Amino acid sequence: MDVYEAITIRKSIRSYRPDPITHDVLQRILEAGRLAPSAANRMPWKFIIVTEPQKRRTLADLCTYGKFLAESPVVIVGCGDRKSSPKWCVVDTAIALENMVLAATGEGIGTCWIGSFPEEKVKSLLKIPDDFSVVALLAVGYPKDGMDLIRLASRLLRPTKALTDIARLNEFTSPWS
Ligand SMILES: Cc1cc2nc3c(=O)[nH]c(=O)nc-3n(C[C@H](O)[C@H](O)[C@H](O)COP(=O)(O)O)c2cc1C
Repeated sequence: MDVYEAITIRKSIRSYRPDPITHDVLQRILEAGRLAPSAANRMPWKFIIVTEPQKRRTLADLCTYGKFLAESPVVIVGCGDRKSSPKWCVVDTAIALENMVLAATGEGIGTCWIGSFPEEKVKSLLKIPDDFSVVALLAVGYPKDGMDLIRLASRLLRPTKALTDIARLNEFTSPWS
């Protein structure tokens, strides 16, 4: 799958099959994050791969809008190192997470970003040091509905802004046509 196809068909998946993700596949997804760009190449990130069912259930209990974290066989918790890069650690970690999202899509695996979580409780559950901020959680797993349905749904259902709404030529007031 090429990168444009992955970008086009990706959509947030909130219902997962219990099938495990093999170590090799997970390794490729994590590599996609590892290779992401970062300000001054500081790579101010750590990624906690949560597979233990009890921990995933606790994360699901903690996240009002992430109950499916108990269902997805893997949860990736992106942590930004504030000491290493106070200004950019959140942006850099988010870029790496999105690389993983696109790599997962290419593997036929669904994901969903979770941005709403009680940070201190997540940090205490996963023993994340004080210097790190939890940037986001990613649910990762095979979609219950299969990838074909996702392809279709992503094209038909996702509301998106038109390019003419969001792109400008040379200055803010000049339209991009
Ligand atoms: C930073 C961020 C935080 C998000 N937080 C949540 C969340 O807590 N729970 C959830 O179900 N979806 C969450 N989402 C998914 C968005 O709702 C979703 O990306 C958006 O509605 C567009 O739909 P699509 O991803 O299917 O294109 C989040 C997405 C991003 C980028």
